[in-house]
Amino acid sequence: METKMTVEAITHGTVIDHIPAGQGVRILRFFQLTDGQERITVGLNLRSKNSGVKDIIKIENTVFTAEQANQLALFAPNATVNLINNYEVVDKFRVSLPDQINAVLSCPNSNCISHDEPVDSKFYVAVKQSKVKLKCHYCEKSFSERLFKELK
Ligand code: CTP
Ligand code: ZN
Repeated sequence: METKMTVEAITHGTVIDHIPAGQGVRILRFFQLTDGQERITVGLNLRSKNSGVKDIIKIENTVFTAEQANQLALFAPNATVNLINNYEVVDKFRVSLPDQINAVLSCPNSNCISHDEPVDSKFYVAVKQSKVKLKCHYCEKSFSERLFKELK
């Protein structure tokens, strides 16, 4: 099988793989992954061995906990998180949707109290007819993932 490394391998760190094409940039922005000092390499619209195209994010010298990684499932339900140590993949897991997403998303309801108070946003994750819905803790309205903008 032909394999081509379109994005350079990393020595130590985390590789978030199998991100749906188009969601890589959203993940970088929503989770403020570029706020730190570590080297990040990003591949967009890479050919995926399974189907179509994917995005990939590689963050050096950084280890994601399962809890952190699971937050990404909102935008990349089939992502795999690979921990790299000394060029080797030493751990690999699939993300799974968390119960809550806190302090990452801004409530799409412009009348929501969360916009006027100095509170962390908080959404409860539910899956209805295989669609992800997020219910705001403050206004109790539910929204699909597409409607969200990041904080700031
Ligand atoms: N990777 C990397 N740097 C390394 C080792 C691996 O950036 N030193 C990347 C690979 O490019 C790949 C991901 O980490 O995108 C997982 O590596 P590996 O498990 O070797 O690849 P696959 O078998 O293709 O992974 P999967 O089965 O999860 O698709
Ligand atoms: Zn709200």
